[in-house]
Amino acid sequence: MKLHIVKTKDELAQKAYDVLIDVIKSSDEVTLGLATGSSPEGIYEIFRAEKPDVSHVTTVNLDEYVGLAADHDQSYAYFMDQHLFNHLPFKATHLPNGLATDQAAECARYDEILAANTPDLQLLGIGTNGHIAFNEPGTSFELTTNVAELAPETVEANSRYFDSPADVPTHAFSMGIKSIMQAKKILLIASGEGKAEAIKGMIEGPVTNEMPASILQNHPDVTVIVDAEAGSLLK
Ligand code: GLP
Repeated sequence: MKLHIVKTKDELAQKAYDVLIDVIKSSDEVTLGLATGSSPEGIYEIFRAEKPDVSHVTTVNLDEYVGLAADHDQSYAYFMDQHLFNHLPFKATHLPNGLATDQAAECARYDEILAANTPDLQLLGIGTNGHIAFNEPGTSFELTTNVAELAPETVEANSRYFDSPADVPTHAFSMGIKSIMQAKKILLIASGEGKAEAIKGMIEGPVTNEMPASILQNHPDVTVIVDAEAGSLLK
């Protein structure tokens, strides 16, 4: 793992953007794995300002809440539209369909999309409990796209975006760890002291499914960019 510790969120976003742009410019056919959450917001802001050519770039997102329509203002599809897809003409963009009624078929459909579009780079945030996408502690490393049950701490963390805790979805379609590990390159970003334990476990702890992100120790090309707070517990 290549680790960069930066001072500010702006610096983090710029450094991550630079890594993404190198991949975007590396070929005339590129697939990017994208993520939602507050962590990548600064990166997408730079995309909106710089407007790089992405007409050759296909995107695949990590996850989507079960039960939310693409136009629901808390769905990940809506987030991606607002922050990125409405602003830049990507070749194609993919997310799981939160409203799919046949969940097994939706997971299979997404696995087919991933098989045809292996990310050249997968962007990741990390949950406070070490989850990546919605692969919560205890999840098998062998899963491809699956319906994940959100851990109580994840529901709690995500409740800040919803009017009432009862509105927070409890399940999500999520790329599995096995799918994430197929990406040629992985870029994980984290900021704030709330992520410090997870960053420590991911980098210095044993590889265990109790700390899902620790599997990244087994991937050959991982770049981690954190701010000082998120990196504060590292030796
Ligand atoms: C959610 C998403 C993850 C994301 C995590 C952290 O649970 N499924 O993909 O990495 O939250 O979010 P944030 O960046 O807002 O801290």
